[in-house]
Amino acid sequence: MIVLSTILGRSSAFVKPTYNPSRQSALLRMASTAAEAATKAPPKAKKIRPERVLSGVQPTGSLHLGNYLGAIRQWVDFQNKEQTDEEGNVVPFENFFCVVDLHAITMPHDPMELQESTLSSAALYLAAGIDPAKSKVFVQSHVPAHSELAWLLNCITPMNWLERMIQFKEKAKKQGESVGVGLFDYPVLMAADIMLYQSTKVPVGEDQRQHLELTRDIVRRFNDLFCKGNKYKKRCKAAGVASRPVFIEPTPIIMKEGARVMSLTDGSNKMSKSDANDSSRINVLDPPETIRNKIKRCKTDEIKGIEWDNPERPEATNLLNIYSAVQPERSKEDIIEEVKDMSWGDFKSVLADAIINHLEPIQIRYYEIREDKDRLNEILKEGSEAANAVAKQTLFNTKVAMGFVIPDEP
Ligand code: TYM
Repeated sequence: MIVLSTILGRSSAFVKPTYNPSRQSALLRMASTAAEAATKAPPKAKKIRPERVLSGVQPTGSLHLGNYLGAIRQWVDFQNKEQTDEEGNVVPFENFFCVVDLHAITMPHDPMELQESTLSSAALYLAAGIDPAKSKVFVQSHVPAHSELAWLLNCITPMNWLERMIQFKEKAKKQGESVGVGLFDYPVLMAADIMLYQSTKVPVGEDQRQHLELTRDIVRRFNDLFCKGNKYKKRCKAAGVASRPVFIEPTPIIMKEGARVMSLTDGSNKMSKSDANDSSRINVLDPPETIRNKIKRCKTDEIKGIEWDNPERPEATNLLNIYSAVQPERSKEDIIEEVKDMSWGDFKSVLADAIINHLEPIQIRYYEIREDKDRLNEILKEGSEAANAVAKQTLFNTKVAMGFVIPDEP
C-alpha cells in the first residue's frame, strides 16, 4: 500500500490532473507489481542436486594393482569433494561403492570363493581408505533393485548395442560355446548399477569406457521413450512423483595415471584377474616376498636405460607408470632423473620396494578389518539400507514411467 500511494502521489505532482484511462491503468499495474515484489519473500536460492559417485569391483579372486590404481584409489578422493550452493551451503558428494557380486557370476564361479572374495573386496575398499562415515559400502546382491532394473533395461536395449562390446567379445572367445547369456547381458546390469543411484560421476579404469558410453545411450533411450509429454506428466502426478526424466547421464571419470595398468608378463595386455598366470599381476594382498619375486621375473627388454612413453618399449612404460603411481608425491622428472641410468636389475629392486612400501599400510588395515567380522557386517548392512532407499525410489519412478500398475503396498 505504501508503494502504491507513493507512486500515484508522485506522478500526480508532476502530471496535469486530467484523467487519462490508459496511463492510469499503466500506473496501477506498475504499482501492483511493485507492491507484490515488496511483499514477496526474496527468490529462493536454487537447490543443487548433490553429485553422486558410484563404482564397483567384481569379487573375482583377489584385487590387483590395476583395480586399486585404476579405480579404488580414485574413489577415496571423491569422499572429500563438495559443492557450494548459491547461499554458500556446502553440499558434499554422495558416494556409493558396491562389491558387484552379480557380475562375478557371469563367468563360471566357485560358491565358497565368491563368499570369501565378496567380504575380502569390501574389506579392501575400507583398508584402501573408503570411510563408511562418508561413503556407502554395500554388496550388489543385497539390493534387489539391481537385478530388477537390469531386466527392465534389457527390454529396451537393442542386441546390436551389446554385440559391439569389446570385453564381451574378448571374454566370450576364451569360453567358446559355453559362454553364458549373463556375460552378454553384463553391460546392461552395469548400466542398472549406475542408473539406480542417479550417479553423475563414475570413476573407473580405461577398460570400462565403452560400458559407460553404453549406459549413457541407454539413459537417453529410456528418457526419450518414456519420459516425455502430457501422458507422462499425468502418470507421474497420479503416482505422486516429479515428472522430470527418470535417469541422468553419468560422466566416466578416468584418471590418466593408473587408468591402464598392464600385465607383468606382457606390457601390451592389461593386468587382469582372469589371466591364468598369477605372476602376470601384483595382488594388493601379496606378501612382500611374492611381490619381490614377481617383479624380479617380470618381462623387460634388451634395450639399455629405462625410458618412459616409447611405444616400442611397453614394459618399460608400464613399470615406470607403476613406480610413479605408488609414489604419487614425486614428479615424473624426479623419477626419470633417478632411474634413467639404472640397469633393469637395479630398477626392479627399487620398484619392488616402492610397491611393498605403498601396499604395506593397506595390508595391515585389511587384516585388522577382517578380524572384526561384526563391524564389517554392520558397515555392509548400513550401506545396503542406504542404497536400498535410493534404489527403490528410482525403480518406482522407472515403473511409473513405463506404465506398470503400481501396487498399493510395496
Ligand atoms: P572389474 O572388476 O574388472 O575392475 C574393477 C575396476 O578396476 C579397473 N581395472 C583396471 N584399471 C587399470 N588397469 C587395469 N589393468 C585394470 N583392471 C581393472 C576397472 O576399469 C574397474 O574400474 N564392470 C566392472 C564392474 C562394475 C562397475 C559397475 C564399475 C559393475 N558395475 C558400475 C563401475 C560402475 C568390472 O568388471 O570391473
